[in-house]
Amino acid sequence: MKLDHIAIAVRDLEDALSFYTDVLGLTCVGRETVTEQGVHLAMLPIGEGRLELLEPLREDSPVGRFLMRRGEGLHHICFQVADLEGTLARLRAQGVRLIDQEPRCGAEGRKIAFLHPASAHGVLIELVEVPKEGNRT
Ligand code: CO
Repeated sequence: MKLDHIAIAVRDLEDALSFYTDVLGLTCVGRETVTEQGVHLAMLPIGEGRLELLEPLREDSPVGRFLMRRGEGLHHICFQVADLEGTLARLRAQGVRLIDQEPRCGAEGRKIAFLHPASAHGVLIELVEVPKEGNRT
């Protein structure tokens, strides 16, 4: 597996972006509103992966509830897999608790699924399907 992105929940995307770009020197290469996940997100490449800053669209979205419960901070880590359905089947067989039993549509129209933090030592893990020969920029 390769690291795809690290997602950080923030209250205010503009405010967070000014820290990660102006202060830390990263570059924002794109923004997207992902209605299915209820977030505005900003992407900042670093190494082979990227940071994603997530601002909730609504208080009653998963990221909105996360902010209310725990405040700003690390929300999830995403790894790339070549075959998402096959990976989910293998994890299910190994007793891993899945949030998504089937792949669903994430940012950039990619297939994603989340694993429950209870099965991952307290970290929410996202898997994204990136076909072997496919190159992501
Ligand atoms: Co993500």
